[in-house]
Amino acid sequence: MNIVVGVTGGIAAYKTVHLVRLLTKGGHDVTVVPTDDALRFVGLPTWEAVSRHPVTTSVHDDVARVRHVALGQAAELIIVAPATANSIAKMAAGLADDLLGTTLLATEAPVLVAPAMHAEMWRHPATQANIATLRDRGVQVVGPADGELAGGDSGPGRMSEPEEIAQAAQALLSPGDLSGLRVVVSAGGTREPIDPVRFLGNRSSGRQGTALAAEAAARGAAVTLVAANVSGDVLAAARHPSIRIVKVGTAQELGQAMTDAAASTDIVVMAAAVADYRPVTTSDRKLTKDVGGLAGIELIENPDIVAALARGRRPGQIIVAFAAETPEDQAEMLERARGKRERKGVDLLVVNEVGWDRGFESTQNAVHVVGAEGAVVATASGSKAAVAGAIWTAIRRLR
Ligand code: C5P
Repeated sequence: MNIVVGVTGGIAAYKTVHLVRLLTKGGHDVTVVPTDDALRFVGLPTWEAVSRHPVTTSVHDDVARVRHVALGQAAELIIVAPATANSIAKMAAGLADDLLGTTLLATEAPVLVAPAMHAEMWRHPATQANIATLRDRGVQVVGPADGELAGGDSGPGRMSEPEEIAQAAQALLSPGDLSGLRVVVSAGGTREPIDPVRFLGNRSSGRQGTALAAEAAARGAAVTLVAANVSGDVLAAARHPSIRIVKVGTAQELGQAMTDAAASTDIVVMAAAVADYRPVTTSDRKLTKDVGGLAGIELIENPDIVAALARGRRPGQIIVAFAAETPEDQAEMLERARGKRERKGVDLLVVNEVGWDRGFESTQNAVHVVGAEGAVVATASGSKAAVAGAIWTAIRRLR
């Protein structure tokens, strides 16, 4: 692959020499584009030697080949390592006052940046805003790591190790096993309003659904994440150029968003916890002991969203439901899961045991995946990200 490595003026530039060697050893054709400042840390002959290509910082060299845009147009990936606070600010603003700037503006290739700076500069709101801008534009960010910094300080700001950057680059270059697929994942828990201050809800944090969306995007899928009352902290894990987030509140809103998205997706994963019932009426005014109404809230059943999606599925569409159970034992849990899979008409049913201290709000999970004829086709436990990986592998096997 044709990779451009942009190097900006930080001490970590010496580690980028090793990164370029790893990439060329991996069979990639690497062109290094340093800034003038970068050359104060590592000289031009070193970059030419490790990349085996001529190196320049200027937009005025090689004008006949329109080098200032040609490099960006031909690149299949651009890595900026180290990316200083200044270079990140320039990227966010779209400045093109040197060869690296024009190359970055002229490219449609994925861009990976490896920030490196002092902890204070990394934490500064200006840098954080610039990083958020880049992420919104689809730029991938690797690091910075927490550790020893130049001058003996320590904190977040150390450039990731070359091996880690090379790994992130490889992930961007090799299409995942879900690439070309469109998927919709629901996450979180619905809230059914009783009055302006109260709702019927559940303890689902949305962590497992968000991890499923993140894993699908990492494996190449185009993802719609329908998030029911998921906090910003949890949703941050789903910040990815291939994830579109639709925020919803109630079961009815969730149902509408899922139906809309499912019309154009290959796979539906219904991880959200949906309230089975909603209040018949929602009071515009807060219910109080004086006004009454709190002691006997009348409820009406919500339609089963996933069962309806399964009934109206597109040809070849895979539908996955979840079940959170509080069983006596594992046998009872699997029996309930098998019955639920049949009733809802879904391909896979992912079941997990929940309780006061497990499943909900936790970063860990343990699941069984029940498939055709009630067979357990996968089991997984560990972080919700690891569990998401196992679930997608089970889904992939169905296709
Ligand atoms: O029947 P139970 O609520 O345990 O089923 C859980 C599964 O069904 C989950 O995938 C959940 O998202 C989905 N569900 C639904 N609509 C409802 C209730 C649950 O889609 N009204």
